[in-house]
This record gives sequence, structure tokens and C-alpha cells, in this order.
Amino acid sequence: MDEERIINPELEGKNEEQIENSLRPQNLNEYIGQEKVKHNMKIYIEAAKKRKEPLDHVLLYGPPGLGKTTLANIIANEMNSNIKVTSGPAIEKAGDLAAILTNLSEFDVLFIDEIHRLNKSVEEILYPALEDYTLDIVIGKGPTAKSIRIDLPKFTLIGATTKAGSLTTPLRDRFGIVDRLELYSAEELATIVKRSAKILDVNIDEDSSFEIARRSRGTPRIANRLLKRVRDYASVLGDGDINLKITKIALNRLEIDELGLDNIDRKILDVMIGNYHGRPVGLETLATTIGEEIDTVEDVYEPYLIQIGFISRTPRGRIPLPEAYKHMGYTIED
Ligand SMILES: Nc1ncnc2c1ncn2[C@@H]1O[C@H](COP(=O)(O)OP(=O)(O)O)[C@@H](O)[C@H]1O
Ligand SMILES: [Mg+2]
Repeated sequence: MDEERIINPELEGKNEEQIENSLRPQNLNEYIGQEKVKHNMKIYIEAAKKRKEPLDHVLLYGPPGLGKTTLANIIANEMNSNIKVTSGPAIEKAGDLAAILTNLSEFDVLFIDEIHRLNKSVEEILYPALEDYTLDIVIGKGPTAKSIRIDLPKFTLIGATTKAGSLTTPLRDRFGIVDRLELYSAEELATIVKRSAKILDVNIDEDSSFEIARRSRGTPRIANRLLKRVRDYASVLGDGDINLKITKIALNRLEIDELGLDNIDRKILDVMIGNYHGRPVGLETLATTIGEEIDTVEDVYEPYLIQIGFISRTPRGRIPLPEAYKHMGYTIED
């Protein structure tokens, strides 16, 4: 993997997926942060169990690496339900979804990751399934074709997306519970780092946990990934224990600065300040200038730069804020 992309919170390959699964909390009490979401979810789950009904359909949205997949699995665990996992792009035809739905059992959780990428004909199958637990299928073609209605088991759909705005209104409206996951605080991330270190069986001190946390741009997946890299340095440069000195050496070698910014963040800020002199710049122009995908800039880089007060969205485009000038060593132009 390309070192420069270490802060990219997208998953990279099977190996990382396996480690990630071992670090995944299994129940709501182990799930750190997102207090509001957790609090509400506990109530909804308890109420559904009391009524002996499946949980209402849940939509989870927010940037990659914040714990959507983890939370979906936890919800299924807490409901004592089985979970079936698929994704928007994996369901190509209406028939694929019909097959998945008819194979569900009562109270199952169906998790559809990247649900904004479902195609239209597939999505239409989903509407009656979500609303009345029914499936309308057409048999045959032309004048002899007939439509039959099949009852489905009562299930819960959990959809996850990085782009709630790309969901069609009829689909979004069919979710009873809609939760947005927020970037994590340094304290929460430090707790996640310590928890992960325990699972990975490596000693880490308080300062190092916070150092990693502060450079993880609010994202547990990045915190866990940085922890693993720092662990490598600790085992080569020291006795395996993680201390602040080794942590700083490792993170500096990875070119992640004190705020968790990497080369691409710095490139974005350089373009905004150096080339555009702080004038509003559109997302497309920005992405093209630095040679990145628009989606990557929008989903991965921008949320954190906005969160730390470095850039702001205006109706005419993105603008850099004073803190960004300071951090990048520019003086503010008049
Ligand atoms: N609230 C949390 N507490 C502890 N670990 C978390 C939490 N949220 C995410 N993680 C960890 O971060 C990693 C990425 O989470 P994941 O659910 O795959 O993110 P997403 O699906 O939103 O991209 C997982 O390995 C998980 O262990
Ligand atoms: Mg996920």
C-alpha cells in the first residue's frame, strides 16, 4: 500500500479487513463515543424487543471509518438477530435483491452497505418490502405477464452510506431511524487506541495513545491503522512497547503532522491559499488541480478540514480560514 494514503479511511484489502474485524466492538457498551446515537438506539432496541417486533429500518450515514458497519453488527447482536451483509453495488439486478429478501427469516437484519449505489430498478423492489414486507414480482413477459405478491418475513434493513444526500427521497423516507455518525473527539479515540492495543497485545502509554488519537482525524479506522504502524516501529526500534518518542518518530516518518494532515491535505490547502489566494474554489476545480477524485476530496478530506476549522463551504465554493494560513505558514493577504 502507498504510504501517502495511510489516512485514507477506506478499507484496503482482505488482510486489513481481518484485523479490523478482530478490533470490532460486539455490543453497544463496548462501542465508544457517539453517545446520542447509542442512547437512542438502546431505547429503540429495548422497545422493539418489548413489543416482540423487529426494529424499525435504520439508516446510518457519515464519512468512512466512523463505525457504521460495526454499529450495524452490534444492532443485530443486541436484537439477537442474524445479520446478512451485502452492498449497493453487489446487487445488480432486481432478481438479486428478490432472492436475498425471500431468503430472510423473521427478525433478520439485512445490512446494505453503500446503499446510495443501489440502482433504480433494484431500489423499487425495496419500497414495498420495507413498507409492508411484501415483494411484487412479475412472471412472464408481454400480454400474458402477471404480477404476484409474496409476503416476506418481518426484517430490519440497515443501510449505510457516506452520502445521505445521494439517497432518493422515497428510499430515505422509508427509514424510521436515521442516524448521523460524527467525527470522534481525541479522548474517545485515545480510548479506542488503548482498547485496540489491549486486543493486539501491545503496551502503550497514555501520552502515546493521545498522540495517535490527535493525529487520527476523528476516525477510529485511522486510529487503529496508525496504532498498527507505530507498533511496527516499536518492535523494530525498541522493545515492543509503545512510548511517545517512538510514536512521534513513526508518525513523522509517515508524514502525518500534529493535526493528522497528510500530503494531500497540505496540497489542498496550498492550492486554496497559494493558487487561489483564498478566493472561493469549487470542489471539481480543487479535485482536478490536485489530481484526486471529487468523491475522495468530498468524503475523506473535506469533512476533517471543515471540522478543524481550516476550510469553510460557501455558496460560491470552498474558502480557507485563518487557522489554515497559520498552520501552513502563510500570512493572510488583504
Ligand atoms: N465506536 C467505536 N468504538 C470502537 N471502535 C470503533 C468504533 N467505531 C469504529 N471502530 C473501529 O473502527 C474500524 C472501522 O469501523 P467501521 O464500522 O468498519 O467503519 P465504517 O463502516 O463506518 O466505514 C473498526 O475496526 C472498528 O473496530
Ligand atoms: Mg463499513
